[in-house]
Amino acid sequence: MNADRLAEAYRWVEYAAFGGALERCRYERLAELAGARRVLVLGEGDGRFAARLLRENGAAQLVVMESSARMIRVAQRRMGESVRVEWRMGDVLAAAWPEGPFDAVVTHFFLDCFAEDEARQVVLRAAERMAPGGLWVVSEFCEPESGFQRWHARAWLGLMYLFFRWTAGLRANRLPDWEGLLHSAGFRCQERRRWRWGLVASEVWRKEDP
Ligand SMILES: C[S@@+](CC[C@H](N)C(=O)[O-])C[C@H]1O[C@@H](n2cnc3c(N)ncnc32)[C@H](O)[C@@H]1O
Repeated sequence: MNADRLAEAYRWVEYAAFGGALERCRYERLAELAGARRVLVLGEGDGRFAARLLRENGAAQLVVMESSARMIRVAQRRMGESVRVEWRMGDVLAAAWPEGPFDAVVTHFFLDCFAEDEARQVVLRAAERMAPGGLWVVSEFCEPESGFQRWHARAWLGLMYLFFRWTAGLRANRLPDWEGLLHSAGFRCQERRRWRWGLVASEVWRKEDP
């Protein structure tokens, strides 16, 4: 996926489609991150979350892995220079990852960019770098089990995968089972909230001791 073409317009497209719902998800777990000192942010996008986290947690040091040079530029414009952020431009499936341990990993609407096997690699690589008891804060799309909610989610997901295929060359075309992947990697869900008839979720998972 190459999100360069979307970088400047990304937030406006999001607001047009979802209003403030995705923004609410991104900021929902900031309190849980209050004690985190080293945080790995995967696929940050245009810097809205990272900027807010730096403001709310004055001690956090972030390492951000992001494949889009233009997203990084937009984020840096928003946040200004900060010695508390290390930017690593590259594809998480190919680039060298930073050394752990991290107190927290954050993925907002990122795991949906991958096919199941790729998402598994991402989850396992991040899991290896987490401190014992570390937190995974995730915002993500979901496909509810049944009924109107399922059809509503399917329609939105279909539209979104088409949109990102056309505009950013996204190859994935369906949600990976990201909750199953986190579970298999030794995380346990501590809290979850869903909005928009179950389409979007904010969850926090804790890494259990092996
Ligand atoms: C759907 S956007 C989500 C952005 C942001 N986290 C948010 O909350 O909206 C996915 C982001 O992940 C980045 N990305 C996608 N695939 C990537 C990969 N393989 N490696 C690193 N970053 C990637 C994209 O450039 C984009 O900024």
